[in-house]
Amino acid sequence: MTDQITLRRPDDWHVHLRDGAMLQAVAGYTARQFGRAIIMPNLTPPITTAAAADSYRVRILGALPAGVDFTPLMTLYLTDDADPAVVEAGYRAGSWIAAKLYPARATTNSHFGVTDIAKIGGVLERMARIGMPLLVHGEVTDPQVDIFDREAAFIDDVLIPLRARLPELKIVFEHVTTEEAVAYVSESAPGIGATITPHHLVINRNALFAGGLRPHAYCLPVAKRERHRQALRRAATGGNERFFLGTDTAPHLVAAKEADCGCAGIFCAPAALEVYAGVFDEMGALDRLEAFASRNGPRFYGLPVNETRVTLRREPTAVAAELGGVRPFLAGETLPWRFVG
Ligand code: NCD
Ligand code: ZN
Repeated sequence: MTDQITLRRPDDWHVHLRDGAMLQAVAGYTARQFGRAIIMPNLTPPITTAAAADSYRVRILGALPAGVDFTPLMTLYLTDDADPAVVEAGYRAGSWIAAKLYPARATTNSHFGVTDIAKIGGVLERMARIGMPLLVHGEVTDPQVDIFDREAAFIDDVLIPLRARLPELKIVFEHVTTEEAVAYVSESAPGIGATITPHHLVINRNALFAGGLRPHAYCLPVAKRERHRQALRRAATGGNERFFLGTDTAPHLVAAKEADCGCAGIFCAPAALEVYAGVFDEMGALDRLEAFASRNGPRFYGLPVNETRVTLRREPTAVAAELGGVRPFLAGETLPWRFVG
């Protein structure tokens, strides 16, 4: 039995670090485990200019504990009136490395998002031409579509036509939650990747209703049936380089979660690697954790892998009940793996 593993320092390809006091409270958890992270731009207001991205990067660096080596990789929030020239200029200047497509009203702070993908046709063509990745929150927003079907519908309604029109556009299908998304990404032509969160590998939709309503298990895309969780576990641990680590850590204050209309988002950063390691261990695939966590993402983005290493040890680790007013994923539980550093 393997009791200790050392891997290249992983990166987190999907993180919500927030701003202000919340940023100060949470940034250290991500920076402790990961070398780089793709920073989601869904602040209020969202990051739509190079100046906003540059100053947000400075605030993130200012929120890190002293001596931590961590690189935020910034992203642009796409709106209906995004300008191809601005998108390209910010990419060339290094203000962002990718752009995020939130269909309007799909999730937290997405009311500024894109109302119709046809409106950003020129931007997507430009991104395809310059090799700039598009990160998608892959859910349709039509209220007529059942919430558990919105990701699968997005494949048919948006992704398939988009990839047919712009096959060279690099796309990350973020936080996939369904068997359909796993199959689509696995079987498509190259140029598409997908991130998988720790929580979608651990919980299915029963967790939302276990003994009562469980707001801390609620995120978007919402957890699906058990067969989908099993498909995600096979995808993450199966060795296909299109799948890589993206926690979608999305902290909200406890009061905002435990409310009449509670916010979507799971704060999984404090024990993210421990949870992934536990899943890979259960799947008999610890030898594939490094590819998923540390190699596949950089390959997709065309970045070098990290040169430093981190170690995880089989040793019980308690997850705190609350950190800075936020409830972490699996709060109060004991995990079998420990992040040593
Ligand atoms: C995210 C958030 O809170 O910003 N919430 C979530 O449930 N994942 C938004 C998002 O990524 O959908
Ligand atoms: Zn997210």
